[in-house]
Amino acid sequence: MSESVLSIRGLQRTFGSAHDVQVLEDLNLDLHPGERVAVMGASGSGKTTLLHLAAGMDTPDAGEVLIDGKTLSTLREPERSRFRARYIGLVFQDFNLIDSLTVRENIELPLWLNGLSHETDRIGELTDELGISALLERLPEKLSGGEKQRVAIARALVHRPALLLADEPTGSLDQNTADSVLKLFDRVTRQQNVTLLMVTHNDEAAALCDRTLHLRHGRLSES
Ligand SMILES: Nc1ncnc2c1ncn2[C@@H]1O[C@H](COP(=O)(O)OP(=O)(O)O)[C@@H](O)[C@H]1O
Ligand SMILES: [Mg+2]
Repeated sequence: MSESVLSIRGLQRTFGSAHDVQVLEDLNLDLHPGERVAVMGASGSGKTTLLHLAAGMDTPDAGEVLIDGKTLSTLREPERSRFRARYIGLVFQDFNLIDSLTVRENIELPLWLNGLSHETDRIGELTDELGISALLERLPEKLSGGEKQRVAIARALVHRPALLLADEPTGSLDQNTADSVLKLFDRVTRQQNVTLLMVTHNDEAAALCDRTLHLRHGRLSES
């Protein structure tokens, strides 16, 4: 059996100075190469917390996250950042675009970080498909929420990551635009064997996944 792309063991995360707000509690998850998993759950159930921990951008109270068999927290900088930049594409719930960079520069960032600056064709393909190619020279402040979300999606895919983590990626989009984003996710996950962990409230987004998990009381379950 092939190794997991993402393996989460006994993950626990609390907040508050007394660690009294327990958000994740003994959470376990294994994603195999090319697997597509949707995570649903009430607002405040810890979905964003889970994605940040999966990306190694936050530290758990207990438990571990392995990506491609490596524990991110045991890698030292700059290896850790380099590994994350190469391996993961992340669509943040609040987009996290860099205000001082144009749309094109935001999307180019993962290419720069990975020494792939020559792959400019890839930007054209993605921005055409996402309907944002006319926005490339704009600054993020001149974009609508739905446009920002599509820029964040292009940035997450441009370097062909093995693992795509997406936090409500259709949350700011109208029906038609959401459909084209889901089609894009479907295609890249199939053609490039990308593993997808997607937080969503959208039944159509969940339907493109191989399984849907529910986050409740700090744990994931099948139903
Ligand atoms: N940095 C933080 N400090 C304190 N509490 C936090 C922090 N991040 C998240 N929380 C709390 O953790 C809970 C889960 O948040 P979040 O993961 O954003 O939920 P979801 O994405 O499912 O809506 C919420 O109650 C939120 O207030
Ligand atoms: Mg959230």
